[in-house]
Amino acid sequence: MTAPPADLHALPKAEVHVHIEGAVRPSTLEEFAARAGVSISRAFTDLNTFVLMYATAWETMTQPGDYARMMREYCEDAVRQGVRYAEVELSPIGRSYNHVAEAVDEAARHRDIVVRFNVGNVRSFPPDVAWAMLEAVKDVPEFVAFGLGGNERDFPPEPFRDVFAEARNRGLHAVPHAGEDAGPESVRAALDSLGAERIQHGVRAAEDPALLAEIAARRVPLAVCPTSNVLLGVCKTIDDHPLRRLWDAGVLVSINTDDPGFFGCDLAGEYAIAGRLLGLDREGYAQLARNSVESSFAPDELKEALRREISDWAGS
Ligand code: HPA
Ligand code: ZN
Repeated sequence: MTAPPADLHALPKAEVHVHIEGAVRPSTLEEFAARAGVSISRAFTDLNTFVLMYATAWETMTQPGDYARMMREYCEDAVRQGVRYAEVELSPIGRSYNHVAEAVDEAARHRDIVVRFNVGNVRSFPPDVAWAMLEAVKDVPEFVAFGLGGNERDFPPEPFRDVFAEARNRGLHAVPHAGEDAGPESVRAALDSLGAERIQHGVRAAEDPALLAEIAARRVPLAVCPTSNVLLGVCKTIDDHPLRRLWDAGVLVSINTDDPGFFGCDLAGEYAIAGRLLGLDREGYAQLARNSVESSFAPDELKEALRREISDWAGS
């Protein structure tokens, strides 16, 4: 087995599946929790126990400056992983919306990373909340996409059909989670009901060869998070991960961290895991990074610059 390249951190990358609250540094979350007088159990075993824990953590992130701090810390950490462009999922509702402005302003201060945002809709909330989220971001051009996360098994996407259609009308890209805790039928519903342009996770599409072939042919990106999938029980062990099947089917897969603060992972480490599963050489790692750029909604000039920098890294 070949070791991953020692300079994997320097490979320029895009990260297109990461949640701002899920990226909170553990030490920062401890401060927030102590301030709120709560303890946050990390004893999650699946998506639903994770989502409940996540909500407890979210309830501690309430003070002015909290989102600016989380954003600053994410940018610092991501830059060390070679991230040059990130699409960060954030929920624009709750706490009088100030957290959105804080996060957007803070992100704009960082010169070595470009950050855009996805609206973090939650499936277990009524679609009215998603409509309010859509309104909340209408004058915030940094929001480029409309997402959907949370309990996938009990909350199918169809009730969100109209709000996703309106979001797409307004120029937001549809990037729901699907095929994580529910099977290929959930990915199919995300494509057909929501007009998904990228699927967050989507790994369970591997269970349906016809769907997989369609996703590959249509170049619908899957934003895969290997460690997240193991820790939330989507696959038993990393060696059971379907990444290889996705890759061999010609799917546009990118590698991401999802919630690195809770999963104890980082992006270069996730690339190394993917490299081992796929048997990648240096050019293969460069291809993973190119896929991350193609999977993103980064401005064209930035995409072009990143493609060149990735080729420089690869020596190709
Ligand atoms: N899936 C669903 N909901 C989430 C996730 C996820 O990966 N991360 C944060 N909320
Ligand atoms: Zn996610």
